[in-house]
Amino acid sequence: MTEIILCGAAGRMGRAVTAAAAANNCKIVAGVERAECIPSSAGDFNIVSNIVEITVHADVIVDFSHHSAVDQLIPYAKKNHIPLVIATTGHNEEELSRLHKLSATVPVFYSRNMSLGINLLLNLCKKAASILGEDYDVEIIEKHHNKKLDAPSGTALMLAEAIKKVRGESEFIFDRTTEHRLRRKNEIGIQSVRGGNIIGEHEVMFCGNNEVITLSHSASNRELLADGALRAAAFIKTKKKGMYSMKELLDESTAATVTL
Ligand SMILES: NC(=O)c1ccc[n+]([C@@H]2O[C@H](COP(=O)([O-])OP(=O)(O)OC[C@H]3O[C@@H](n4cnc5c(N)ncnc54)[C@H](O)[C@@H]3O)[C@@H](O)[C@H]2O)c1
Repeated sequence: MTEIILCGAAGRMGRAVTAAAAANNCKIVAGVERAECIPSSAGDFNIVSNIVEITVHADVIVDFSHHSAVDQLIPYAKKNHIPLVIATTGHNEEELSRLHKLSATVPVFYSRNMSLGINLLLNLCKKAASILGEDYDVEIIEKHHNKKLDAPSGTALMLAEAIKKVRGESEFIFDRTTEHRLRRKNEIGIQSVRGGNIIGEHEVMFCGNNEVITLSHSASNRELLADGALRAAAFIKTKKKGMYSMKELLDESTAATVTL
């Protein structure tokens, strides 16, 4: 059983994680939320507005809230040596560097997408980019619900960064309205659609002169993302320190399956 402090407990993902906890052999022991969003009716665990108020034991902190929450999560994780699963997106360079610094002493799991399918898509995109090379223009389209705050999605950036690693020097283009000129070979275009209650869709297009290859992923519910975060919590609970991602989790699960 993994005991978890859940940051962003009243949000869409927070509620999905709470609902999926028992089935993943996890228990939410406390929550953190913005004061104005703490539900009035008491649930199975207490929700507070500042993590320092939490005194119950926890194995892991899982964060699905807002990038600025690291201001309170990092000192708490460091002081109490509690591993941190960061599923929130939209962090700036400075916040990411503080998370890396924390990982020198405390385990940090950071993934801008907790689904296994997206992590497979990541590998397929790297393979496609290395086979197709520079003659194919890469364009990424991501679609999310109308309540999402950050754009482009963390996942779209993760896909673009993975392709950049294979293609070499690449320029991410988020807006084509300010400069009227031809597309450059090294561009990776990233477009964001926001509407309705779309959970998360990502399309990566490799556009050649005679064909277009599209790799895509569509999330049909939040349960798969919640399950992934809870798996990450169980995975990181046993680690001593370091920065981890879905790659290490999947590598470890594959190794375990092969050993069996
Ligand atoms: N890694 C993934 O697979 C994945 C999947 C879905 C969403 N996300 C990310 O997770 C985050 C939350 O997504 P959501 O759809 O649940 O959003 P949401 O807006 O429904 O929920 C966020 C919750 O966090 C709370 N919150 C905001 N600032 C806070 C703070 N400083 N401390 C504590 N709580 C705070 C909000 O009040 C809200 O209840 C976003 O950054 C989103 O992009 C990541």
